[in-house]
Amino acid sequence: MKQPVRIAVTGAAGQICYSLLFRIAAGEIYGDDQPVILQMLEITPALGVLEAVKMELDDCAFPLLAGVVCTDSPAVAFKDVDAALFVGAKPRGPGMERKDLINDNGKIFSGLGQALNDNAKKDVKVLVVGNPANTNAYILKANCPDLDPRNITALTRLDHNRAESQLAAKTNSSVSDIKKMIIWGNHSTTQVPDISHCTVAGKAATGLVDTAWAQEEFIPKVAKRGAEVINARGSSSAASAGNGVIDHMATWIQGTEEGNWVSMAVPSDGSYGIEEGLIYSYPVTCKNGDYEIVKGLEINDFIKGKILDSQSELLEEREAVKDLLS
Ligand code: NAD
Ligand code: LMR
Repeated sequence: MKQPVRIAVTGAAGQICYSLLFRIAAGEIYGDDQPVILQMLEITPALGVLEAVKMELDDCAFPLLAGVVCTDSPAVAFKDVDAALFVGAKPRGPGMERKDLINDNGKIFSGLGQALNDNAKKDVKVLVVGNPANTNAYILKANCPDLDPRNITALTRLDHNRAESQLAAKTNSSVSDIKKMIIWGNHSTTQVPDISHCTVAGKAATGLVDTAWAQEEFIPKVAKRGAEVINARGSSSAASAGNGVIDHMATWIQGTEEGNWVSMAVPSDGSYGIEEGLIYSYPVTCKNGDYEIVKGLEINDFIKGKILDSQSELLEEREAVKDLLS
């Protein structure tokens, strides 16, 4: 049997984690021959509920679950972890934008950065889910000087999955027929779902749907899907977000399928004219536990304008949190 890997999960008594933790324990991130230890962090008042989550994890008798830690101490939660999933943060309610959460949630990420930096493995793979996810990841990166900055990422895989699902429905095809979807930019309404390079069962998507649909219906539908779920459910997406986390981490660790890519928000290396260091969603391929931004794609003027608008929003968010970037 392999040595267990350690995965920290913050906000572990919350909605997203109520589906996410059980799927991690079933082996869906690292594969079905890899034992895992869950190191779950919560705020002190939520420790009672967290204990109930542990009871239910125990009651599932997952063969790959080699240990469960419940704690309100970040140093304990992040000790020697291989991966850290930052879910713990306030969700938005109806009528709010994700960036309205910056003031409350940004502080969580500056506060936890030091403990992650001091306790996690130096090559820890980090995924930020709590909103506004890109800017929270930027704050975390600024507060973790000893970690590999490339490994600090944010979640746009939920948006990627939403985009594949919308295109499959429009073209009467299966999601498994859709390849090379892209989400550019911020996990916000300025994100840019882009079908320019997509194929549907091997055919160019741009030849199957008209431009007006792609620009005026598809993009806003995907970009505003989070709000649509909140309005219908009364609270923000949870199971689909947990599924996005599983997909993001499993692809990063196990690799992309041949001939396809996925979207991940990662520190920009300057590709496509985006300022270096901003946490920006790009198409990436993954291999051997590492990712690479897909380079050299031709971008039309409509998409180019939107890509820069999303960068402008990220620069504004960064300005708003400059006190947390020590
Ligand atoms: P939730 O309120 O159900 O759970 C959040 C949990 O985090 C709570 O149990 C809370 O006690 C805990 N928490 C708060 N501060 C903490 C801290 N400092 N340390 C540890 N735990 C802490 O919310 P949820 O529905 O699970 O959503 C969590 C976050 O994920 C929200 O910010 C939401 O907007 C975001 N989200 C992001 C995406 C995405 O695609 N990036 C998708 C869905 C939700
Ligand atoms: C989502 O996209 O569903 C999440 O970011 C939650 C939200 O606030 O929309």
